[in-house]
Amino acid sequence: MTPILSLQSYSYAWPGASSWTLREVNLEVKAGECHCLTGGTGSGKSTLALAVKGLLPSGRQAGGLILNAASDEDRVAVGLVMQNPETQLLTETVGAEVAFGLENLCRPPEEMPNRVVQALAAAGLDLPLDHPTSRLSMGQKYRLLIAAHLVLQPALLILDEPGGQLDSAGLHSLSAIIGDLKERGLSVLLCEHRPDRLLPVVDRFWRLSKDGRLHQGLPPSKPSPNRARQPSPDASREKPLVEVRNLEVEENDAAPVWSGISFTLREGERAVLQAANGTGKTTLLRCLAGFITPRQGTVKVFGESPKPEKLRGRVGFLFQNPLRQLFETTVFDEVAFVLRRTGKSPAEVSERIESILQLCGIDHLARSSPHQLSYGQKHLVALAAVIIAEPRLLLLDDPFAGLDTKYLARIIQLLIALNEEKGITLLWTTHNRDNNPPWAHRHLTIEGKRIVSNHC
Ligand SMILES: Nc1ncnc2c1ncn2[C@@H]1O[C@H](COP(=O)(O)OP(=O)(O)O)[C@@H](O)[C@H]1O
Ligand SMILES: [Mg+2]
Repeated sequence: MTPILSLQSYSYAWPGASSWTLREVNLEVKAGECHCLTGGTGSGKSTLALAVKGLLPSGRQAGGLILNAASDEDRVAVGLVMQNPETQLLTETVGAEVAFGLENLCRPPEEMPNRVVQALAAAGLDLPLDHPTSRLSMGQKYRLLIAAHLVLQPALLILDEPGGQLDSAGLHSLSAIIGDLKERGLSVLLCEHRPDRLLPVVDRFWRLSKDGRLHQGLPPSKPSPNRARQPSPDASREKPLVEVRNLEVEENDAAPVWSGISFTLREGERAVLQAANGTGKTTLLRCLAGFITPRQGTVKVFGESPKPEKLRGRVGFLFQNPLRQLFETTVFDEVAFVLRRTGKSPAEVSERIESILQLCGIDHLARSSPHQLSYGQKHLVALAAVIIAEPRLLLLDDPFAGLDTKYLARIIQLLIALNEEKGITLLWTTHNRDNNPPWAHRHLTIEGKRIVSNHC
């Protein structure tokens, strides 16, 4: 059988880069197969995905990349759902986003509504067609993009790190979608660090190593969960730093599923809020940072109702999408931005930055542009830029998509050290049910309309 995709000793280097990101890669994907590509943060998984979709800028290339599928009036050859859904959304409403590709294929308008509704249902996005895309959570945006590609029936569908954005229910639907695509003879390429929930549908595993070579791989083993330190018992004696009572917010029509919630975070605590896509985790953090005024109830942070200007320097906010906080031309300048405004000497600034970059494992990227990094590396730069200011309260909004297991363990150790040594209070949100970390003092979940808080 002729493979749909064939890479023959394919190599690629980004424009201006001295070394190959992909080196002599050989890969064949046949009709009806699902291949899973693993590899560390920055190893080149997304680069390979972009190469297959034909979206790479013309850097140095060698070898061959052959696609034996062509777009026609009813379908496309390759669909790519990118790692960061916010870089790929094109339109203003859910329905228009899914219809967009069909319009490009010049499909008759009368067949569109049915196809759009079916694709949205398959992707598990139960929202009206006129729902604004700007009001979707990251996980919902990823589901929408899956629908927008499914509707085009690609011969090869590439999904870049779905586990970084989708909750367990989303991954469960995705597994069913992939099974169905395979039965219809369509092929799938998954780029994923932790494909646990998709294992049953994967036919072949591959691993990209640091030098850009592709190796036949085995399913990645699960990270051992209990290596992090246990919480220190003293935290509960400290005074409340965040107090939320009977909170209800109204953010246009993007109201969170919770209402009337109450919980307390004490100074020095490490808390994790684990809840499904679209439940309002970001909204809650935005309330704590003073970006949203509650409709009902009270929020107190450092004993006062939060106002961004009053909290500057005391609260650090790490966004789910790192692109929202990266703006400098080098990683060094990005991390230096806040520090330079504190009047520290250049020597002191350099020393602090080198140390933070080392702690985050990105010292080798100091002179790189933050905009030309892998998604996971961008998260690390954004983290370094936030923690360098040593805030008293650090709000982390599901920010670690794209990090491999090693980096994730390293960052968790770093956060624990900041908490223990500097007393920084942490609130981390996650969509991943497996992220129920043993190092948290407090686990928060959303059950029904309430937030349930368990102190360990
Ligand atoms: N837009 C870009 N311009 C230049 N280099 C890039 C760009 N995007 C990624 N890279 C580089 O390519 C390498 C691989 O990145 P990527 O393919 O995104 O890794 P992964 O998806 O495995 O995390 C990284 O070292 C990164 O610095
Ligand atoms: Mg990637």
